[in-house]
Amino acid sequence: MKKILVTGGAGFIGSNLIRMMLSEHEGYEVVNLDVLSYSGNLENLTGCEGDPRYSFIKGDVSEPDTAASAIEGCDAVLHLAAESHVDRSITGPRPFVVANTLGTQTLLEAWRQAQGGEGAPFVYISTDEVYGSLPLENPEVRFTEDSPIVPSSVYSASKAAGDHLAHAYHHTYGMDVRITRCSNNFGPYQFPEKVIPLFVTNLMEGRKVPLYGDGLNVRDWIHVDDHARGILATLERGKAGEVYNLGSDNERSNLELTHMILDIMGTGKDMIEHVEDRLGHDRRYAIDSSKAQRELGWQAERSAWPDGLEKTVQWYRDNEEWWRRVKSGAYREYYEKQYGVR
Ligand code: NAD
Ligand code: DAU
Repeated sequence: MKKILVTGGAGFIGSNLIRMMLSEHEGYEVVNLDVLSYSGNLENLTGCEGDPRYSFIKGDVSEPDTAASAIEGCDAVLHLAAESHVDRSITGPRPFVVANTLGTQTLLEAWRQAQGGEGAPFVYISTDEVYGSLPLENPEVRFTEDSPIVPSSVYSASKAAGDHLAHAYHHTYGMDVRITRCSNNFGPYQFPEKVIPLFVTNLMEGRKVPLYGDGLNVRDWIHVDDHARGILATLERGKAGEVYNLGSDNERSNLELTHMILDIMGTGKDMIEHVEDRLGHDRRYAIDSSKAQRELGWQAERSAWPDGLEKTVQWYRDNEEWWRRVKSGAYREYYEKQYGVR
């Protein structure tokens, strides 16, 4: 049995990952370290609490004593804890640097102190956003692991700083650090500030969907289960010091995505509300994940789109109580501030 520390396990990707680790892999025991910020929700893990292979610690990765005690006895770390939403990083940058940069360094340092030398694997869950933005004009160009790191939002800059620190701990101390850089995830339990659950739940509430700018920005959409499998493939078959891009070859403009959601929901285009563009809005992300395919034997499942999108919409339809609770209280304040709507 391998005891794995998952940080940020009460969030969207972390909770899907933990559920997969417990249900599909008998050899993992999971310790979930999460501070339960606005996007951390233990309801995302309903059903896991009773599993003897699962335990939860409420705590902050940027706090050295918490990090040190959480990693005790662990055989590996999957570090997902982060402030994750670009729009929030525009209105309030500081928490991003604390959680994503200082938090990553604190956890790396705790792992180094506990392990010494190369130690056991530490997987840093980075993002394709560290590569910055691609123009729309050259659709054949995609990010490879050797592309320059030129992040353009505070979110991506704070993640890129964590990414550089992860590399530095490998280079300087010889630690077994591995990095994944994945594209845009979708699936169940995603916090409804991100575009897909925001649009789906808005439509269910009879509200319009706020499309930024001209709607031509492009994202490569990957199902969260594919990302979770990619993280586990990195843990099981990755190598120290290596970076693995994880993408789905599934580039869609926001306009195309919005039309698909409207179609699935059976609503008309009049539900689109064109709103002001995001400041510094990255135009296009596109990921070349051939290295992960070659070296990890990992590939996103092609069936995830549009089938996975339809199933995801159905999940939000079937789990109205979950998102209505999430969208109440402080969320209303956030939404009103973000979009100026009541
Ligand atoms: P999320 O916001 O849903 O979850 C983040 C979790 O981290 C929450 O449970 C939160 O409580 C926890 N957390 C935040 N700060 C913490 C701290 N200081 N200490 C302990 N826990 C803390 O985000 P997500 O979409 O699940 O993203 C998870 C990770 O994956 C992030 O590192 C993100 O950068 C990365 N990522 C996300 C995507 C995506 O499309 N969502 C794509 C690539 C990479
Ligand atoms: O690429 C990986 C990244 O994907 C992750 O690292 C981030 O954690 C994750 O949040 C996501 O970042 P994006 O900024 O791409 O995701 P978001 O869902 O916020 O926006 C997707 C696109 O939709 C983006 O071009 C902005 C647009 N958008 C978003 C919102 C919230 C809108 O048009 N309207 C909206 O209301």
